[in-house]
Amino acid sequence: KDTSKVYTKEEVAKHKTRDSRIWVTHQGKVYDVSDWADLHPGGAQRLMLAAGGPLEPFWAMYQQHNQPAVRNILQQFQIGEL
Ligand code: HEM
Repeated sequence: KDTSKVYTKEEVAKHKTRDSRIWVTHQGKVYDVSDWADLHPGGAQRLMLAAGGPLEPFWAMYQQHNQPAVRNILQQFQIGEL
């Protein structure tokens, strides 16, 4: 899968609803997590708080994301970079 496409933050910010797809960023990479939102152990509603922008501020508060298994989930959904 080609993950080299470069997006701007403005473009990412347009994707913050289920209808427009749910995009998030993490460490300079862009992910479309739409198909995983309902599987989030913390609930789709919490995941949606980060929709269209960076995960970092949320993951700083919820440190259970700081583990390889969580990185592996994200990796599957990479669509590009910032
Ligand atoms: C739990 C992934 C976004 C809040 C988890 C877990 C995973 C995960 C794999 C389970 C961790 C474990 O216990 O081993 C993700 C991914 C996200 C995302 C891939 C983005 C695409 C968020 C956001 C928030 C959040 C934005 C907060 C606003 C939580 C909370 C839990 C959790 C509170 C604990 C749920 C519980 O154990 O009851 N997340 N997360 N997550 N996440 Fe997320």
